Amino acid sequence: MSRKDTFLEKMNEALSWELAGIVQYMNHATMLTGTEKSHLEDFFEDASEEALDHSQIVGHKISALGGVPTVEPARIRQAADPEGMLKAALKLEREALQTYEEALEYADAANKGTAFWLEDHISEEQEHVDELILLTKEVSFGEQDLPTGASQTG
Ligand SMILES: [Fe+2]
Ligand SMILES: [Fe+2]
Repeated sequence: MSRKDTFLEKMNEALSWELAGIVQYMNHATMLTGTEKSHLEDFFEDASEEALDHSQIVGHKISALGGVPTVEPARIRQAADPEGMLKAALKLEREALQTYEEALEYADAANKGTAFWLEDHISEEQEHVDELILLTKEVSFGEQDLPTGASQTG
C-alpha cells in the first residue's frame, strides 16, 4: 500500500470515530437525568455538532485526495449515567486522537496544506481529551497536593 493510501485509510478511520461521536454524544444528551442534566446536555449537544463539523471536514479531505469517505461509524458506547457517559466520551476522544496522530505520520504523502491542517486539528482534539480527563476526574486534586500553607479554608 502506498503512503497516500495508508493516509487515506487512517483518515477514514478517524472519520468513523467522528461519525460515532455524532451519534454517541447526541444519544447521551437525550438520556441525561438528575442535577447534572442542564449543563451536560449543552456539553454533549455541542460535542455532537462538533463531531458533525469534523466529519464534514475530514470527508472533504478524503474526497479531494481521491478516496471514498466511509459511512460506517466506529464503536458507539452507551452509558446510563453522567459519569459513564463522560468516561465513554474520553475513550472515544482518545481513540480519535490516536488515529489522527497515526495519520499525521503519512500526511506528507497528501499535501502540505493537509499536513498543516492536521497538526492544528490534533491540537484541538488534544484539548477535548484534556477537558475530559478533568471532567471524569481521571486527574483530581486533594489537600495533599497543595503547597504547605496554601490551604487556608478552615
Ligand atoms: Fe473531532
Ligand atoms: Fe474531539
